[in-house]
Amino acid sequence: MNPIPAQPATSADRYAVAGNPVAHSRSPAIHARFAAQTGQAVAYDRLLCPLDAFADTVRAFAASGAKGANITVPFKFEAFALATRRTPRAELAEAANTLRFDADGWLADNTDGVGLVRDITVNAGVALAGQRVLLLGAGGASAGVLGPLIEARPAEIVMANRTVAKAEAIVARHADWAAQHGVRLAARGLDDAGAAFDVFINGTAASLAGSGVPVSAAVLRPGTLAVDMMYGPAARPFLDWVRAHGGEPRDGLGMLVEQAAESFFLWRGVRPDTAPVLAALRAEVDAPPGH
Ligand code: ATR
Repeated sequence: MNPIPAQPATSADRYAVAGNPVAHSRSPAIHARFAAQTGQAVAYDRLLCPLDAFADTVRAFAASGAKGANITVPFKFEAFALATRRTPRAELAEAANTLRFDADGWLADNTDGVGLVRDITVNAGVALAGQRVLLLGAGGASAGVLGPLIEARPAEIVMANRTVAKAEAIVARHADWAAQHGVRLAARGLDDAGAAFDVFINGTAASLAGSGVPVSAAVLRPGTLAVDMMYGPAARPFLDWVRAHGGEPRDGLGMLVEQAAESFFLWRGVRPDTAPVLAALRAEVDAPPGH
């Protein structure tokens, strides 16, 4: 099971989550569990990057011998731009959540989309193939997952956004990819998003908490799986809305663990078992304050 034997902590390969803020990131806890489970000698930390010094901070980290980093808000675009090589799914996203510091330069990947797809199809057990999918939002979060969603071959994906032009630009950039996979891909406004989708993915910002879900409940049918990419309090208004309208709510915790597992695989060549890690994280997140 463990192709690479555990080594003393002193020789652990170093990784970090780079962002601003990073204090509340759950990635160190997730990767510590992956490392323990797989016997990999990995040390994973937080790397707070000043807003105007992302490149310098990550360069110094890499120069110190570190092997890679996860990248979070607001640096995913900058990380993509800094890399010397990019995976096809990072190219589609035009953003990177994972860097691997190779001897010949930095490899940029984006594991968010495959993480979301795996959470939906494996953890939630809901098929995407042949289904109708609504993706709400056209910011970095939604753009980051569209390529892998297309690869899962749903019948149709509608990207609905307040600013339609942003959705149109992202859809245009994915048009060939969608055609290759036999997926109907459309950009729409919030008022004509459509009705009765099988799967609804919320990729809009947490700022929605104040203004409510900006599409009609007609987008749901009874039992529609509705996934928020957020988790914890940020996801609550969306999940409550889904429940109130007969959908099946799901937060972004599974996606978080799955994207981490894919990053771990890129770095280490070993795929961790995500189920126990997701269960442990779920217990922590759902625990009442003070526990
Ligand atoms: P991220 O990188 O996290 O996706 P972003 O690029 O700021 O963040 O994108 C936020 C998304 O939430 C956008 O799709 C935004 O819509 P616009 O493109 O029209 O700005 C959407 N969003 C944020 N607040 C919204 C609101 N009150 N109503 C509707 N959509 C909202």
